[in-house]
Amino acid sequence: MLSGLARAAALRLGAPCARWLGSRAGVPAHVVDLRSDTVTRPGPAMRRAMAEAVVGDDDYGEDPTVRELQERAAQLLGVEQTLFVPTNTMANLICVMGHCRRRGSQLLLGQECHLHVYEQGGVAQIAGVHSHLLPDLPHGTLDLDELERVITRGLGNPYHPVCELVCLENTHSSSGGRVLPIDYLRQVHLLAQSHGARVHLDGARLMNAAVALRVPPARIVEHCDSVSFCLSKGLGAPVGALVGGPKDFIQEAWRLRKALGGGMRQAGVLAAAALVGLAEAEEELSRDHENARRFARGLQALASPHCSVNPAAVETNMVLVKVVGLPAADLCQRLQAVSPDEVAQTGHAVRVLLFPWTEQSVRAVWHRDVSTQDTELALRKWEFVLRQLGP
Ligand SMILES: Cc1ncc(COP(=O)(O)O)c(C=O)c1O
Repeated sequence: MLSGLARAAALRLGAPCARWLGSRAGVPAHVVDLRSDTVTRPGPAMRRAMAEAVVGDDDYGEDPTVRELQERAAQLLGVEQTLFVPTNTMANLICVMGHCRRRGSQLLLGQECHLHVYEQGGVAQIAGVHSHLLPDLPHGTLDLDELERVITRGLGNPYHPVCELVCLENTHSSSGGRVLPIDYLRQVHLLAQSHGARVHLDGARLMNAAVALRVPPARIVEHCDSVSFCLSKGLGAPVGALVGGPKDFIQEAWRLRKALGGGMRQAGVLAAAALVGLAEAEEELSRDHENARRFARGLQALASPHCSVNPAAVETNMVLVKVVGLPAADLCQRLQAVSPDEVAQTGHAVRVLLFPWTEQSVRAVWHRDVSTQDTELALRKWEFVLRQLGP
């Protein structure tokens, strides 16, 4: 994984996501932004829904659009209730705080998961929770024997922290958007339950997992005690996430949201966009997954010695590309630059925006602002850059 500084430098690499930007090559440059599915901007239907949303004070439970979103999402996720919160980071923290009720209780999670790596250790800073990390296997799963060993190690022993929670992430971002098998979720849940622990699912991209497995999201969530669900990634809403779980858990989640500063008043303006995102999710995400697969197959067909990709590992909207012979950051810079040579050879000026994921890999993420045609243009740009690098 990149250091914070390298990631900040990579962020600066990325231009604002205008579709067409001026270029020194003399023609406007077309931008294909594959940095993340968080970069989408609300389209006309979402903006209209936001403008027309009926709102009220959500802190008094009086915003009908927030209520509609929460009820619709509860049905979709197969949980008793959901709560609208500003971000998936807050949703995760609320869930950890809701489950881990004693100071110093133990949370088991994968060492590369978002909750551990990118959420500033909020569970320690704010919740006083002690994380125990387990290695992530290549498919984004944890080794069940190791999980059992760690859960049971301290049972009844006053020297050890008490394990109260296991957190899983689905889809699993750092493994390239892999989908956790439902039977694995069932086994983790059984294991946790049999030792008095609960399971929280970071479902920032749960909908991608459900679309890939062709099951309703509720089939996945039934094996968890709580779920977070992001509205501002593949679903394309500008802001927002949901916490899902049993009624008493969501009542406590409401209290925790308040303590974390998150009562949102006329939040129906935001919930309206999320409702549009939810309604369109299946179609949009299926297209993103297909574009990601198309890109991976196309890149593999280029057979470049400078990069390798495994199309069989592309299960959702992400493609992990291994970079060989140059730093991943250099490759990203070349993919973003445009030159007269590119225009002369390909007839296009295309800026492909990407993050180096590690020193030797790049993660490309598809979303609703990247069309099939954009995917083809991105592939042609990779071809041009790889050809310039030579054998
Ligand atoms: C797996 C996962 N969980 C949680 C988050 C946090 O989401 P947010 O940016 O809404 O706080 C992200 C963000 O990229 C993520 O990828």
